[in-house]
Amino acid sequence: MYRVTQKEALRSCVQDWHQGGQSVALVPTMGNLHTGHLQLVKQAKTVADRVVVSIFVNPTQFVAGEDFDTYPRTIEEDVANLQAIGPDLIFIPNIDEVYPTGLKLETQVVVPGLDNIFCGAFRPGHFQGVTTVVCKLLNMVQPDVALFGKKDYQQLLVIKKMVNDLSIPVEIIGVETVREESGLALSSRNRYLNQKEKDVAAKLYQTLSGISEAVKAGRDDYQQLEADAVEYLEDKGFKIDYLSVRNAADLGAPAGGELVVLTAAWLGEARLIDNIQIRR
Ligand code: PAJ
Repeated sequence: MYRVTQKEALRSCVQDWHQGGQSVALVPTMGNLHTGHLQLVKQAKTVADRVVVSIFVNPTQFVAGEDFDTYPRTIEEDVANLQAIGPDLIFIPNIDEVYPTGLKLETQVVVPGLDNIFCGAFRPGHFQGVTTVVCKLLNMVQPDVALFGKKDYQQLLVIKKMVNDLSIPVEIIGVETVREESGLALSSRNRYLNQKEKDVAAKLYQTLSGISEAVKAGRDDYQQLEADAVEYLEDKGFKIDYLSVRNAADLGAPAGGELVVLTAAWLGEARLIDNIQIRR
């Protein structure tokens, strides 16, 4: 398992693999890896000959006042956890390597329509930071396929649209959310929850599951379902940013196709996001 910090070294490795006829998968992460991240790496190994994992806490996707400075950085632990699964290369660039001309006045990638709703509305500029860094990483690695978690459903859609709109030659694969037994989606930010809050946090998934089951059973009074869920969760101590039933394909108002119910909610110090695709 190579450990690389410079894009030139990364490129030459990937070029060698490609010249040898091998396919390459990329799993971008911000580190502090948990079983959810590791699942992406495991799946990557099943879809490509070589797997690159990037670890980079991207400053531009953190909005002012967010936890960029305190975001958990656990590189040696991450490397040890990855070792057990065996990707071929870990790319750990520093900020200058990714943003050589600084964090301001750089070219930005914007995905209009999708990047300013839901999480984008509550975290203005967040998705521009994500799309810009993911575009850079795709250009640095030039993988055949890149894997992202469905837990960050809006992020997955924004990235798919960017890749499609910019004709970036990579296949984007969405990986199912890995959860605790309680249903709570694994997240680096769960560490901000104490044990009591963790027990309460499981109600988020239970509530989304309830909506999903109700819709499958034929209910289509989405606004009522949303309002009831918000009232219930607020009563349990959540502060809801949004909770909405939407078209799974584009997050537009529910139409005939597949739906998704997605939410972001604060519990104590943690902002939790989760979603369920509703397959009818
Ligand atoms: P990060 O939060 O570290 O997540 C890296 C990848 O792991 C993302 O694709 C995310 O959706 C996935 N992931 C996180 N929790 C998961 C879970 N419980 N089950 C399955 N997959 C999960 O998302 C980012 O980093 C960044 O925005 C990034 C794409 C790396 C750009 O900086």
